[in-house]
Amino acid sequence: MFGKTTLFFLLFLWTQDLVHSLRLVKIRVPSPKREGGKALLSCQYDLQGDTLYNVKWYKDGHEFYRYVPKNDPPVSYFPMAGVKVDVDRSTSNTVALVNLSQESSGNYSCEVNGDAPRFDTVSGHKYLDVFLLPKSDLRIEGLKDKYEVNELLVVNCTLPPSRPKPHMIWFLNHREAPDSFLSGPWYQVSAERPDAVETILQLNFNVTSDFNNGPLRLKCQAVIPPMYYQKIEATREVVLPPTEAKETERR
Ligand SMILES: *[C@@H]1O[C@H](CO)[C@@H](O)[C@H](O)[C@H]1NC(C)=O
Ligand SMILES: *[C@@H]1O[C@H](CO)[C@@H](O)[C@H](O)[C@H]1NC(C)=O
Ligand SMILES: *[C@@H]1O[C@H](CO)[C@@H](O)[C@H](O)[C@H]1NC(C)=O
Ligand SMILES: *[C@@H]1O[C@H](CO)[C@@H](O)[C@H](O)[C@H]1NC(C)=O
Repeated sequence: MFGKTTLFFLLFLWTQDLVHSLRLVKIRVPSPKREGGKALLSCQYDLQGDTLYNVKWYKDGHEFYRYVPKNDPPVSYFPMAGVKVDVDRSTSNTVALVNLSQESSGNYSCEVNGDAPRFDTVSGHKYLDVFLLPKSDLRIEGLKDKYEVNELLVVNCTLPPSRPKPHMIWFLNHREAPDSFLSGPWYQVSAERPDAVETILQLNFNVTSDFNNGPLRLKCQAVIPPMYYQKIEATREVVLPPTEAKETERR
């Protein structure tokens, strides 16, 4: 039984090699991309002597682009939400998408069809993700001009709406703040963009006397890999409370 299967498999490989059939080399869908941006999708195939009948592109199973060399013009495309094709930059193996939006995210596939007599078909697929990057800067809220020893420091680091959510980190004197100093992250759905969220990570801790011998260096960082990174820094003086300061003077 096993021997037979192996034999058929070897026979299959051998026939494939002899016939030189149409072959998909690679499908390339650069991802992720940002909203409003462009994406050049490509489908590399090797005809290996076959004649091309057509190349079709689909998004989530719906055809939006077709290249038929026998037609004049060879390109036709079918409008679809989020799929805007730049025909002038599209060919038998590339499709240029412009004005990407949330609706452009999805499963893209290309299908290459050979002509008579074999009518071979090969296809491949890849996912395209479209990110919404924050339209304004990361900000720190609630920061005071200076802090007294034994005072509670409570500040928010806020990243305007994004999709997906960012990874946010607070640093305190160049070290990642411990979890016990953090609250959140809290996410607020944006009224204007229900698919995006504003993210808040709060830093709150008691400015104990450990922090008395130098300024407080605060840094908040937001990352949406692999295309967005932002940081904001602030340095604040730590002073002794008025009563203790007087005592120190007296001594
Ligand atoms: C993507 O599309 C291809 C072709 O239509 C299909 O075979 C595949 O299962 C789809 N993948 C996902 C994850 O939906
Ligand atoms: C780009 O897409 C947005 C949202 O889908 C739309 O409002 C805008 O008119 C489009 N711009 C162009 C140049 O197609
Ligand atoms: C920080 O954000 C939380 C949640 O939105 C809010 O309740 C709080 O008032 C904010 N604090 C500061 C200091 O802005
Ligand atoms: C900060 O810690 C000190 C020492 O433990 C304590 O005396 C003080 O009340 C704390 N301050 C606040 C605001 O919790």
